[in-house]
Amino acid sequence: MKVKVSLDKNTSYNVYINELEKLNFNTKVVILTNELVAKLHLDVLLRKIHAKELFVVKIKDGEEYKNLQTIEYILNQMCSYKLDRKSLLISFGGGVISDMGGFVASIYQRGIEFINIPTTLLACVDASVGGKTGVNNKFGKNLIGTFYQPKAVYCQSEFLKTLASRELAAGMAEFIKMAVVFDVKILSFLENLDEDKFLNANLDDATLAQIIQKSIELKANIVSQDEKENGLRMLLNYGHTFAHVIENQTGYKKYLHGEAVAIGMNMANTLALNFGLLSEQECKRVQNLLIKFKLPISYKIPNIEEFYNAFFLDKKTHYQKINFILACGLGKACIKNDISKENIMQALKVFV
Ligand code: NAD
Ligand code: GLY
Repeated sequence: MKVKVSLDKNTSYNVYINELEKLNFNTKVVILTNELVAKLHLDVLLRKIHAKELFVVKIKDGEEYKNLQTIEYILNQMCSYKLDRKSLLISFGGGVISDMGGFVASIYQRGIEFINIPTTLLACVDASVGGKTGVNNKFGKNLIGTFYQPKAVYCQSEFLKTLASRELAAGMAEFIKMAVVFDVKILSFLENLDEDKFLNANLDDATLAQIIQKSIELKANIVSQDEKENGLRMLLNYGHTFAHVIENQTGYKKYLHGEAVAIGMNMANTLALNFGLLSEQECKRVQNLLIKFKLPISYKIPNIEEFYNAFFLDKKTHYQKINFILACGLGKACIKNDISKENIMQALKVFV
């Protein structure tokens, strides 16, 4: 099956689900991956790729390496392989790899083509699609980057079989995000899903493919309308304003991105509850779903003034106005940028 991401004529592309057989390229190809993914799955991938010349760049595993230093290392490797403007980059890994691979592809010799082959659920349902690329710096998460679309994305459930339950849960957090913001029917579907099978990587391929397809359809629809996040696309950031601060404050080590998003969604819901946008029952329903998939919902904020100040580096903050993405009922979201500091602090105080 495939989902089309409709953009301009030259930049539209397909996301293929369980359709990767063989890929032939009449160019040089570099595969960007990390040490763990390479050990687990690179052999299988190499059997599927044919290119004029094939190179592999392996980087260290972890969000803490998603920075400009690693980008420089990758670019140096690519220069040493004498890759040219017709060369292609394949990102083979989770969201950290697809964000960095896309970024490198967008700047190497002013831009080469790339494709994503995501190996985490999170990257399948979200990160590998939509063209946001980039890295973190000491000031915050994803502050350096570009919008640069892949030529194609290939999600293969075979690669997801080796994911630990924590990583599967982190991917589920981004799917729960889609449900709360866009489609309440998904909440019921997830409430009925066997969490033990899911968390033990025992879900059948058809159900896993269904989850990936639904998530990508929702994301593709938004990205097609607002590729560069001038408005509508901000909704995909539900929970992220809080999550990015949590990830930065914990050195990108304590929480997986999806775990921080789970906490962030709960924080956003606390704010929405205070404004009467969500009922207690609706908040509880989302909490229960997060707990069902063994996701964290709480973070002890060490210093709420610092936490608040970090919102001003959020990419959705314009002219000192923080754009909060809040659920307004389940299956709908809105952007609120007129919340007073006092009201924000009141919601944050629940988490100290
Ligand atoms: P990740 O890439 O760090 O992967 C999580 C862990 O799983 C890593 O240790 C990785 O090595 C391991 N792993 C990868 N594939 C595996 C496999 N098949 N089997 C076993 N282990 C495997 O993190 P992630 O959760 O995939 O992605 C999070 C990143 O994605 C964040 O940096 C976030 O900012 C980014 N993101 C980007 C977008 C976007 O639109 N660009 C959207 C959402 C998230
Ligand atoms: N993950 C948020 C976005 O792609 O816009």
